[in-house]
Amino acid sequence: MDEFKPKNLILIGMMGSGKSSIGMKLAQDLEIDFIDTDQLIETQYDLIINLINEKGEEFFRNIESQVLQDLNQEKFSQNKIIATGGGIILREQNRKILKELGLIIWLKVKPETILSRLKKQENENRPLLKSNSEDEKLSKIINILKVRENLYADLADLVIDTDKIKNLAEISEKIINYFKNGNFTQ
Ligand code: S3P
Repeated sequence: MDEFKPKNLILIGMMGSGKSSIGMKLAQDLEIDFIDTDQLIETQYDLIINLINEKGEEFFRNIESQVLQDLNQEKFSQNKIIATGGGIILREQNRKILKELGLIIWLKVKPETILSRLKKQENENRPLLKSNSEDEKLSKIINILKVRENLYADLADLVIDTDKIKNLAEISEKIINYFKNGNFTQ
């Protein structure tokens, strides 16, 4: 039998869905490490805004795929919380790796909520949403979500609607209980 490898918990979902804040809370509650693929890109390569604006989205996606591949090869990539960039699910090779890496949680959220959350945050690593008006930004979010929604849904072992539950502690508890109660047998 293969050596038991404790699985990672991976957070997927749109920009502004709360992957980093929920991920950090989960890591704190479970007393395990937290990794963010966007942060890995920025420490190992360059700021996301520079990569996308200067070299283009395709170039950024290649780096994103590389970082994910490296993560999958590292022996210590286990028993961690991994937050991912919203578009990491676009490539089939990435979706395969994510499945191998662990249990996947989709943080589902409405476009209007994304818009209002992003208003309150720095937008520097989200050049794909750069817009001249709030209406334009909302339609960009809606269009991006249309392309991705089925991909998020197909990958997810668990879906958490973060429009309905807003409290970080409550979300973290829900995720931990779900996997603890053996709803997932991998
Ligand atoms: C992106 C999401 C961003 C970042 C980049 C592209 C996307 O990460 O990877 O700007 O395509 O949705 P967050 O989802 O952490 O904001």
